[in-house]
Amino acid sequence: MSLLSFFAPCPRGLEHLLVKELEQISAEHIKPTNGGVAFAGDTAVMYRANMHSRIASRILLRLGNQGYRNEDDIYKLAARMPWSSYFTPDHTIKIEVTAIKSPLRSLEFITLRIKDAVCDYFRDLMDVRPSVDTVTPDARIYAFLTETEATIYLDTSGEALFKRGWRMDKGRAPLRENLAAGLVMLSGWQPTQPLFDPMCGSGTIIIEAGLMAANVPPGWQRGFAFEKYRTLDKTLWQKVKNDIKIDKTQRALYASDISAHAVNDLARNLTRAGLPFPIAFEQQNALKAMPPAANGILLSNPPYGERIDVVTASEDAAFFKDWADHLKAHYAGWNAYLLTSDRDVPKYMRLSASKKIPLFNGALDCRLFEFKMVAGSARKPRVVADEDDGQ
Ligand SMILES: C[S@@+](CC[C@H](N)C(=O)[O-])C[C@H]1O[C@@H](n2cnc3c(N)ncnc32)[C@H](O)[C@@H]1O
Repeated sequence: MSLLSFFAPCPRGLEHLLVKELEQISAEHIKPTNGGVAFAGDTAVMYRANMHSRIASRILLRLGNQGYRNEDDIYKLAARMPWSSYFTPDHTIKIEVTAIKSPLRSLEFITLRIKDAVCDYFRDLMDVRPSVDTVTPDARIYAFLTETEATIYLDTSGEALFKRGWRMDKGRAPLRENLAAGLVMLSGWQPTQPLFDPMCGSGTIIIEAGLMAANVPPGWQRGFAFEKYRTLDKTLWQKVKNDIKIDKTQRALYASDISAHAVNDLARNLTRAGLPFPIAFEQQNALKAMPPAANGILLSNPPYGERIDVVTASEDAAFFKDWADHLKAHYAGWNAYLLTSDRDVPKYMRLSASKKIPLFNGALDCRLFEFKMVAGSARKPRVVADEDDGQ
């Protein structure tokens, strides 16, 4: 069987984790770029990538590519694609265009031309055209333009893959599920270790960790665009689903938050997340939260000044100083990982970060800081204030 080509976009900074996931599902010709990974594989690889990738945002099937000079060239490329192999005029469509250094002026006009190409294709073939639905289309068509080349993709995922299907309430500033999964992987957490998020919000980190430990695929509770396409191989898709083996072992996962609202969101999300074991959670102030085990991984994304208007930089500094004193006094043996866009957090905490991993939380340029809490760190007068090295 000939190989199909794909591109999977993902949060910037997590490409190497997506490479590992794709290797595990036997994808071939894996090539990471900024913000995504290109790969090849058969239909089973595409089904598994959609079902199992915790990091990818979508799986795009590459249909064709050519050099272009103007909108007409892109129209002709789009009109040549074998659309009727995948969907019919009864399916609704949406076109999205991304361009880097394209000399063409209007992305809206290119979007319109590609829509015309798909509609004209079906009108010529069957005398009917598909309609556009920009909110819940059956088929999303993507065009990616560089300075000289245009590539057309058909989305196989539908809703973005970080929408796992369990989130009830968005909370105040929830992490995207694929970024949360990436943080858990980057922390090196193993399912046999305790994991604690003391500022859990809606619980994204702890839920993603639980799903990972239980082997519950992220796509377990949702549908995919490829299920609506004419190319669906029901037997193969059923086999991919039958191969899933859930691990029901109880894991030591703990979550808390100062806000009653957040804890309610977490409780509701937990009832829908599909975890095969309960997670311990409570409403409490992180400044007072005692460690739930002798050692383990603390992983959190604390509130950011710029996301919560009322918090000033000096309040942030005071909060992190108090929290660090609490951690130094009680959390010896724990490794703490904090995702924040505030580079001064290590300075506020008077701790030296042993790792600083650059990541993007949406548009926010963040760091995942690693702090190893060692016995006696509370007694040190002032550990070297950390300077950002500008990574
Ligand atoms: C950026 S949000 C975390 C979002 C979470 N990762 C999610 O995906 O939903 C920060 C959280 O810290 C909580 N918080 C702020 N101060 C706190 C404190 N002193 N103790 C515990 N939680 C606190 C807020 O209530 C908020 O839910």
